[in-house]
Amino acid sequence: MKLLNGEILSNEKYSDNLYKMGIFSPYICKNATAGQFINVKCSPEGVLDPLLRRPFSIFNIEKKFNVFSILYMVKGRGTQFISGLKSGDMLDFAGPMGDGIDLNGNENNILLIGGGIGIAPLYLIAKLAGEMKKNVFFAAGFKDNSYLRWGKDLIELKINYAVLTEDGSWGEKGLVSDYVWNNMESFKNFDIYCCGPRDMLKTLQNIYKDRNNKVTALLEERMACGIGVCAGCVIKLRKGKKGFSYKKVCKDGPAFSLGEVIFD
Ligand SMILES: Cc1cc2nc3c(=O)[nH]c(=O)nc-3n(C[C@H](O)[C@H](O)[C@H](O)COP(=O)(O)OP(=O)(O)OC[C@H]3O[C@@H](n4cnc5c(N)ncnc54)[C@H](O)[C@@H]3O)c2cc1C
Ligand code: FES
Repeated sequence: MKLLNGEILSNEKYSDNLYKMGIFSPYICKNATAGQFINVKCSPEGVLDPLLRRPFSIFNIEKKFNVFSILYMVKGRGTQFISGLKSGDMLDFAGPMGDGIDLNGNENNILLIGGGIGIAPLYLIAKLAGEMKKNVFFAAGFKDNSYLRWGKDLIELKINYAVLTEDGSWGEKGLVSDYVWNNMESFKNFDIYCCGPRDMLKTLQNIYKDRNNKVTALLEERMACGIGVCAGCVIKLRKGKKGFSYKKVCKDGPAFSLGEVIFD
């Protein structure tokens, strides 16, 4: 992990609150992989308010151009600030952070299940798995069609996919977890990566409780230091039959076996 400054090459507005930012960084493109994230300073140079950096998953890496991107939702002050940055501005960030995902040990079939902005860390997994000639399926669920523009990124992956929206304005109407449940048999021999709202992850945990699939969840706990020092991102994991242990999402994750996560 390094403290870095990268030139912003684009900061494209996808919809009201959704943006994709492209950043020039040979270091990230060389050293980062799927599942990792960066910690971004969300204030002008010389200003330390807000003090805490904000974590964003590495959405895509284009090694050929030394460019990586983040896909982000404007939620509060930090994301509001970066949404106003323009191409040519510099982004102050630290990365790559967290453990990357090694797809080598995986099944040949990979299912990605993303809810809302949870699609962000899954995109690069899908891309790298596709490049390894694995059979990749992306199931993505949203409230409405505000992620429609992301559909173009999805098509570029040239993989199979299903899009669901709660209001039916894009793709099938319904919840992505229901889609997975209804298509359980088709995904019998798939290794699974999921990311999204807690309720979605809890539902998936129930669905896969007694099944043999290897299911990995990428967690997006709130973070403070981002480097394993403050214990601000601790989660509880099952250990053995009755025990449990604590892990830090920033240092030990963000990927964990879904079956082991205790959602209090
Ligand atoms: C490992 C990791 C990867 C992430 N990747 C992405 C990503 O790729 N794209 C993206 O848009 N967001 C991602 N997030 C969430 C992102 O970091 C927060 O949305 C961001 O920090 C909000 O900052 P803010 O200053 O705009 O909002 P704040 O003012 O800090 O908060 C505004 C609102 O957002 C809520 N919020 C803040 N952080 C989180 C969080 N981690 N999860 C859920 N709600 C939160 C707050 O409770 C509050 O209601 C990731 C988080 C983690 C931990
Ligand atoms: S954010 Fe400080 S330990 Fe994880």
